Amino acid sequence: MVNVLIIGHGAREHVIGETLVKGGATLFSFMSFKNAGLEDLSKKIKIHSETDFKQIIEFCNENKMDFAAIGPEAPLVVGIVDALEKGGIPCVGPKIEAAQLEGSKVFARDLLEKYKIKSNVKSKMFDSMEGVKSYLKDMGVENTVVKPEGLTGGKGVKVFGDHLFSMEDTIKYCQELVNKTSRFLIEEKCVGEEFTLQTFVDGKNVLGSPLVQDHKRAYEGDKGPNTGGMGSYSMENHLMPFITQDDVDIAIEDMRKTVAAVKAETGVEYKGFLYGQFMKTAKGLKLIEYNSRWGDPEAMNVLPLLEGNLVDICRAIMDGKLSENFSFEKKATVCKYLAPEGYPVNPKSEEVVKINLDKINKSGAKYYYASVYREGGKIFTTTSRAMGVLGIADSLENAERIAETGVNCIEGKLFHRKDVGTRKLLQKRIDHMNSLLNK
Ligand code: AMP
Ligand code: GLY
Repeated sequence: MVNVLIIGHGAREHVIGETLVKGGATLFSFMSFKNAGLEDLSKKIKIHSETDFKQIIEFCNENKMDFAAIGPEAPLVVGIVDALEKGGIPCVGPKIEAAQLEGSKVFARDLLEKYKIKSNVKSKMFDSMEGVKSYLKDMGVENTVVKPEGLTGGKGVKVFGDHLFSMEDTIKYCQELVNKTSRFLIEEKCVGEEFTLQTFVDGKNVLGSPLVQDHKRAYEGDKGPNTGGMGSYSMENHLMPFITQDDVDIAIEDMRKTVAAVKAETGVEYKGFLYGQFMKTAKGLKLIEYNSRWGDPEAMNVLPLLEGNLVDICRAIMDGKLSENFSFEKKATVCKYLAPEGYPVNPKSEEVVKINLDKINKSGAKYYYASVYREGGKIFTTTSRAMGVLGIADSLENAERIAETGVNCIEGKLFHRKDVGTRKLLQKRIDHMNSLLNK
């Protein structure tokens, strides 16, 4: 028997928990907010702050935990792994220094620059307005992106042409960040198609999983405000139609070099899951950002395809002995997030969500609880994404159909993007990539 603790409360942790149970774990959950899916899967749960390390250690000791897996970034970047390991609990996740790959965009860019990692882009850090205007002028303001240094839940980055439309707008946003005493980066704007590469890392080895493309914008046709991600898809060949195996090899090589650079720079080995968000551009592959964890929704596209045992993989990560003794089913996946009406600007919380369990189970779709809560047998919305619905099939078309059928088994004041995983949107991405490469 293996007792495993999962920390976190979203759909990502629900799917990690499900995969650990599939691997034979007896699951325990420690979460700041009760996730109904994890509650159902767990032998015991505790609802408490995910950064109260003392309480987490106590819970682990009381329940004789073999190890802990950490889902979200917030506890990682403030040192949960260091604290738990000091308390005698092995962890799957990077220590604080290594987690700064996500926690500090300045650390990440400086590291890539120093170790000459190819997919890096030009960027400069500011903590006052001194030199901002002249840097913007030198870069050409239309070629820039402004990023606060720390965690922003995907919502603090502003891209010229998408969120900022003039020198004045850009200066105003930089000033806003200075007023908040936030360090920020101005970096080169990349133009191309993005993809997510999620990897397993044991300090040295970096092993990949199927590529995924997320959809950050709230509304169909990539319109509206940025969100935590409204849905994602992956293809049966584990690539994207606009990304080749050569591109993946380059991305993995850069991630391997980054992991080596973390060790060289901090003395700490990166162990855990490492998420690389890349963009393929006319100038080659560019790294947009690193996350020190699985993606949400992207974990839902990949973990259910795992042919292998996640408990064993976690052990191999902790022991520094990762080997390629696992694979992923050659299937396509489409994940659609249902979010409360009004999300992300003015979400309708406290609304009932009705899941027709009979129907959804028959549809073949899988579903994962995100920011909803269960009370008196009923599910209610909060202010964030509500449920992830996943279709898995031999082709993208069928996976998309299954996901849509699943979505239609869930009622409430919710919305989702019907276009995620459709051929039409995929073709738009292919055409965009071709137009950039053939220029
Ligand atoms: P991040 O939080 O760094 O993932 O940024 C959020 C989103 O902003 C990304 O998914 C990209 O779409 C966009 N973005 C970030 N950095 C860049 C960049 N250098 N060039 C173009 N778009 C970017
Ligand atoms: N889907 C984006 C993220 O997990 O950060």
